[in-house]
Amino acid sequence: MRVLRRTLGTLLALAAASSCAAPHRDDAKPAASVVLTPYERLLPAPASVRAEGPGYAFGAGTVIRTGGPGAPEEVRRIGELLAEQLRGPTGLPLPVVDGAGGPGGPGVEDGDGVRLRLDGGAAELGEEGYRLRTTPTGVTLTARTPAGLFHAGQTLRQLLPVRGAGTVPGGTVTDTPRFAYRGAMIDVARHHFPVEQVKRYVDQLAQYKINTLHVHLTDDQGWRIAVDSWPRLAEYGGASEVGGGPGGSWSKDEYRDLAAYAADRYVTLVPEIDMPGHVNAAQAAYGELTCDGKAPARYTGIKVGFSSLCVSKERTYEFIDDVLGELAALTPGPYLHIGGDEAHSTPAADYARFMDRAQAVVARHGKTVMAWHQLASARPAPGAVLQYWGHDRTPAAEKAAVAAAARAGHPVVLSPADHAYLDMKYDKQTRPGLAWAGYVPAQRAYAWNPGSYLPDVPESAVLGVEAPLWTETISTRSDWELMAFPRLLSLAELAWSPSTALDWPAHRQRLAAQGPRLDAQDITYYRAPEVPWP
Ligand code: ACM
Repeated sequence: MRVLRRTLGTLLALAAASSCAAPHRDDAKPAASVVLTPYERLLPAPASVRAEGPGYAFGAGTVIRTGGPGAPEEVRRIGELLAEQLRGPTGLPLPVVDGAGGPGGPGVEDGDGVRLRLDGGAAELGEEGYRLRTTPTGVTLTARTPAGLFHAGQTLRQLLPVRGAGTVPGGTVTDTPRFAYRGAMIDVARHHFPVEQVKRYVDQLAQYKINTLHVHLTDDQGWRIAVDSWPRLAEYGGASEVGGGPGGSWSKDEYRDLAAYAADRYVTLVPEIDMPGHVNAAQAAYGELTCDGKAPARYTGIKVGFSSLCVSKERTYEFIDDVLGELAALTPGPYLHIGGDEAHSTPAADYARFMDRAQAVVARHGKTVMAWHQLASARPAPGAVLQYWGHDRTPAAEKAAVAAAARAGHPVVLSPADHAYLDMKYDKQTRPGLAWAGYVPAQRAYAWNPGSYLPDVPESAVLGVEAPLWTETISTRSDWELMAFPRLLSLAELAWSPSTALDWPAHRQRLAAQGPRLDAQDITYYRAPEVPWP
């Protein structure tokens, strides 16, 4: 058997040797574009690839087989979704058939085409891993879980050409994620966005194996989710946004629809109600949430840290119980995010007292607490997940508090603002965005190792990484996408690929190879100068 394995490293070494440019591995200057094989183009880079033998040519007769009798309905649904995703680019009919019939007749699960198989015994594939094996008779996707099968389908999409049918090269991809939590965040509070736009983002995330979308639902400038017991939150507190636009909010049915759409793509929503700060919109709607009982005006600027819930009032805790209770009932996922950042108007002792009670409310409603890492300086409840959003100038003591919490068993999600914040400008020319954590050019988004990023926080304490997009300066779909792409893809690879696969010269070639796919999906992206876009 001839093994055609060729590493991207070898190719790049050849390319570097034949040119006098780019003497340094981490050079941010433009690189020459290298022609990659379909396996080398995969992003995130898979854990293992063995290229061997001839491949499978997609054609008019290709069918998607979702297993024989007894295969779960969920596999059928994944097959239907994959077929839908492949029909446009390939131009093929791609009927979905199962063992009970269809064009292949009885026993079709062993016929030609794309075969989806759940194998409960494939322990090595874990919760989300998969194997994708290609021979001249077809492509077999195997996983222990439906999520793994879905991820396998996303890999198959990337192994086919951007347009047209094409041949999937022979070989086997065996792939499992490095981190369980692979996230993005969207701030729909500073600017309101319709659910349809968020669904579009879910599709984009799922393609790159990101499995969590944190939704920042409330802030000083707007309250975006309907709460039946406090209707003015959305009705009045939602009718504002940065810059004075009309704002808006989502009904519970819209939220449920979004959560189901995401779940169908194995993306879990993490809703955030930010407290005890970032609450001006709530207080504008209900004056009883302030200590003096007077409702402030709605706020459309971009300052932070000026509002606080009234920690000494019992009504405050009735409010958070009602809100978090309704949100927990809407939320299929395990986490409720309660913010806890930038509570500059809440004295430290009050902050700790408030967060104790808020965390107890989350637990009472059957969910696990997530909060920004400032909770580490108070009293994180058992199991609470801390989301670190510091940067290169964050004081060592603040990082040490997170490390101490990690030692006490709190999982950490890393969103270092100077690498992972998608709202930081790429450079001084970037029109939207902020720069308080510095500029984040494409390479910087990739140039950190989540497993060793925070002192004394070992990889075993890192639940994963998340790329937040704050929207103080972002109000359109194209600006949102411009800031997210390509940096989101780099975060996706840091979250999924084994640390041994992380290599900027190879990664920027993979980014470049995604350009035509982003174009084909009409995704706006920044043509970062350090990436050799075709
Ligand atoms: C944050 O950026 N205030 C979490």
